[in-house]
Amino acid sequence: MSHQILLGAILRLGVKGHHGLRIVILVLIVAAIVVAFVLVRQRRPSRPARTARRRLALMTRGNPVPPGDRPDAGVPNLTMSSNNDLQAQGVGTVATAVRQSRAGNTLSTIEARGLTKRYGDKLAVDDLSFEVKPGHVTGFLGPNGAGKSTTMRLIMGLDAPSSGSVTVNGRHYHDLGWPLREVGALLEAKAIHPGRSAYSHLRMLAQTNHIPKSRVEEMLDLVGLSAVALQLVGNFSLGMGQRLGIAEALLGDPGVLLFDEPINGLDTDGIRWVRNLLRRLASEGRTVFVSSHLMSEMALTADQVVVIGKGRLIAEMPIDEFTSRSSQCYVRVRSPQLDRLRPALQAAGASVADEDDGSISVRGMGAENIGELTLHESIVLSELAPQSASLEEAFIESTEGHLEYRGDRPVAGGSTKGA
Ligand SMILES: Nc1ncnc2c1ncn2[C@@H]1O[C@H](COP(=O)(O)OP(=O)(O)OP(=O)(O)O)[C@@H](O)[C@H]1O
Ligand SMILES: [Mg+2]
Repeated sequence: MSHQILLGAILRLGVKGHHGLRIVILVLIVAAIVVAFVLVRQRRPSRPARTARRRLALMTRGNPVPPGDRPDAGVPNLTMSSNNDLQAQGVGTVATAVRQSRAGNTLSTIEARGLTKRYGDKLAVDDLSFEVKPGHVTGFLGPNGAGKSTTMRLIMGLDAPSSGSVTVNGRHYHDLGWPLREVGALLEAKAIHPGRSAYSHLRMLAQTNHIPKSRVEEMLDLVGLSAVALQLVGNFSLGMGQRLGIAEALLGDPGVLLFDEPINGLDTDGIRWVRNLLRRLASEGRTVFVSSHLMSEMALTADQVVVIGKGRLIAEMPIDEFTSRSSQCYVRVRSPQLDRLRPALQAAGASVADEDDGSISVRGMGAENIGELTLHESIVLSELAPQSASLEEAFIESTEGHLEYRGDRPVAGGSTKGA
């Protein structure tokens, strides 16, 4: 009411007053209306986002709640936030649903014991034993045909092992009460009916797992697919399909997550987004197991590695330890007393090579031990510089004898898939 009284007073003043004053008051009123209009526009979402949300709301309004489904069923501790922290890292420029920290939950593990899978003559997975722990991103590395996807299928109960076993949280996949809420996976070549929309695909999964439909909208938001939620999956690009797969994996808010080559087909921003998302999921105490051939990306994302070749385990350790084992790791040493230093290092078990620039490269002995030795022998040092290997160098070296498929020459014994 007060604004009407004010407006009336201004207009009366304008009518009684001078002609010029009347024009000034009218201009002020028009300006105020324009400013108010602009402010209202800025607060509203864009037209495509509004349309998608309206259509989504219309479509979901009439959906029956499945029997026994409660609004919060199956998704305990769910927090919905526009997480500034995540946005700063590039994770979700949209609202992001994250679960409260699970740190300390030591149950969320994957454990393989003597896992073996044979397809006819082909031994795809060969007596594999490893453990994937919570709170870490564990990179699952191996050359083409090494058995990574097969292992992930075995974990998800999509294939039965020929012998051995693999468990999630101490149980076989088929024994999990609500699998989608305990383990989520983005597997290669996921079969989604091309005639379904992203929304109806996720909604169907949510209904059959007693997950509230609000979680579907949150996940579509999280992966950036809200605006195309009602488009047919068959028309999705590779990258959009990957994003939908990630939404599906996270739908049940599980503690264990498997991603088979999740960054395939993603653009640069999408790759960075996945990297930060995986790290964030691990920092919440989840078990994150991810395969990829992009070693530079894995070096940034993972802190543990499981490396396999021809179905067999090659390494299972922290990523730093894996790279430090590479022969590409050495210590560059300079000294005015190399004649004394060389034999002293060799006598201590190190291998020494002369470099063109007058330095020596020392392998088999760390910088700390070299420093102690030179102190003990009273040898002057002018440089002591550890050189680390990249994950790619360490990976190539460790899998050298386990390649089934090579670009330059055929290797006997490979099957047709994965070439
Ligand atoms: N259903 C199947 N029938 C027969 N052989 C199979 C089947 N699935 C996988 N294999 C074989 O098992 C081996 C391991 O395949 P897998 O797809 O697990 O490898 P990968 O490590 O995921 O390779 P890539 O890096 O190329 O994805 C391959 O030699 C493959 O040909
Ligand atoms: Mg694979």
